[in-house]
Amino acid sequence: MALYSEKVMDHFRHPRNVGVIDDADGIGEVGNAKCGDIMKIYLKIENDIITDAKFETFGCGSAIASSSMATELIKGKPLSEALQLSNKAVAEALDGLPAYKMHCSVLAEEAIKAAVQDYYEKHGVAYDKTQFPDCASCAHCCE
Ligand code: FES
Repeated sequence: MALYSEKVMDHFRHPRNVGVIDDADGIGEVGNAKCGDIMKIYLKIENDIITDAKFETFGCGSAIASSSMATELIKGKPLSEALQLSNKAVAEALDGLPAYKMHCSVLAEEAIKAAVQDYYEKHGVAYDKTQFPDCASCAHCCE
């Protein structure tokens, strides 16, 4: 069996939504301390709906495929839904990732959350801070 699904290979070879949104409403940048990969997600938001999402990922193929799929999954969705997007859902949408590559999909979940939090902060929106990972106490992305 191939190590990577056809969907992973497709999103790696032809990533959707690569780039920058110059006037983004929220930007999230996260990294994995162990592999050194970095993911940055840009969101355009209108009336709590994500109208556009783009990414820049300096990382492995699984991280690129995860960013591509994650941005596809959140475009047109309300912020509340984007915040529910788990790394497992991203991996499932890609028809799976090898176990040792699951941490790559975590970057996508966390970059989206960071971008939404950035939007809340920049626009003075009151929000529940417990919805967001506390990097000081969480080993999630460094697994
Ligand atoms: Fe670093 Fe995939 S190996 S995100």
